[in-house]
Amino acid sequence: MHMKGAVFNGPGTPLQIAELSVSGPQPGEVMVRMTASGVCHSDYHVVLGEWAAQTPLVLGHEGAGIVVEVGDGVTDVNVGDSVALSWTPSCRRCLYCVSGRPQLCTSAVQNAYRNVLPDGTTRLSRGGDPVYSYLSVGSFAEYAVVPESGAIKIADDVSPAIAALVGCAVTTGVGAAMNTVPVAPGSTVAVIGAGGVGLSAIMGARLQSPATIIAVDLSEEKLELARRAGATHTINARETDVVGAIKEISGGDGVEYAFEAIGRAGTIEQAYAALAPGGTAVVVGQVPSGVKISIDPMAMSGRELTLTGSNYGSSRPSVDFNRILGLHSSGALDLELLVGDRIPLADINEAFTAMGSGATGRTVIEFP
Ligand SMILES: NC(=O)c1ccc[n+]([C@@H]2O[C@H](COP(=O)([O-])OP(=O)(O)OC[C@H]3O[C@@H](n4cnc5c(N)ncnc54)[C@H](O)[C@@H]3O)[C@@H](O)[C@H]2O)c1
Ligand SMILES: [Zn+2]
Ligand SMILES: [Zn+2]
Repeated sequence: MHMKGAVFNGPGTPLQIAELSVSGPQPGEVMVRMTASGVCHSDYHVVLGEWAAQTPLVLGHEGAGIVVEVGDGVTDVNVGDSVALSWTPSCRRCLYCVSGRPQLCTSAVQNAYRNVLPDGTTRLSRGGDPVYSYLSVGSFAEYAVVPESGAIKIADDVSPAIAALVGCAVTTGVGAAMNTVPVAPGSTVAVIGAGGVGLSAIMGARLQSPATIIAVDLSEEKLELARRAGATHTINARETDVVGAIKEISGGDGVEYAFEAIGRAGTIEQAYAALAPGGTAVVVGQVPSGVKISIDPMAMSGRELTLTGSNYGSSRPSVDFNRILGLHSSGALDLELLVGDRIPLADINEAFTAMGSGATGRTVIEFP
């Protein structure tokens, strides 16, 4: 079968809309017709050359669609089901999977992070040569073939844009504040970076009723969205000393929880420096390969500070996608506020330009 997909051929070149061949699902795989895909900064890291990736590659890992074909042995989903895609297609057998941490699945790390399916190959090609699918998803294309465990059945009435965002930003951010480090009621929280992931972290934190949520960004538009998401205070990092302002707002000591949702050394260091004694900084943002941070171990011991990381919101996609969607339909989470421009696949390069400017909400590609 043939389809259109946005192909990344290497850093510094725009994605190219190309005609690709897609072969049917092998045993344990499903083919999905995409209905929507969000554009995440983790795609942008690859576009910018900040993370190495084999090419040609169909980017996109925040997707939703309808199952159109299932391979032998697939039991989780049927043709016609609506699904949101997970970029940790867990093996369900390794230590991490069986101990309830499928976001750390060994097989997902080995295969999805190499942009291949669990058998080490890809279902996409162009002129007979393999084309890879980012994180075993590749949602910037009309169809995707994914492992069964990467296609999570959801209700048919969920809007495609919302289902897509649950596939990455929402689960990552909400989960960081609910699963990785559950925020305590009445506590103080800072979220540095109010993009798709940071705004979701604000919403996830708010569900647990902290007293204070301080949002930090460079863009006034993002800070306005942060207030709508539940931030009680906002700081524009362009104008203000971030650590000093967080300490002042939180009464002098700093915050109990600080989430970094950008992926820069300097802002991770800010999150850590903004902690009150006993506080926890959570690295959600992902830095360009090789970037290191500098922290003071003396302060770490003397003030009992914790620095931790969060992958995919420490979530279990097969359960948490639908829990989060339930919180959205009950009104506890307003995921619509994350959605910015809705564009056709052909405009994908403009979405990255917009992301680089930092001022707009999450761009969502909608497929006809
Ligand atoms: N840990 C995970 O599992 C996981 C999952 C998805 C994404 N990520 C990472 O999370 C990060 C955020 O992703 P996103 O899609 O929300 O990105 P985004 O580009 O939508 O948002 C980043 C935000 O940070 C702001 N910003 C940039 N520099 C800043 C600074 N110096 N001070 C304050 N604000 C600043 C921007 O204005 C923007 O609003 C990326 O590094 C991405 O790769 C991690
Ligand atoms: Zn993502
Ligand atoms: Zn596993």
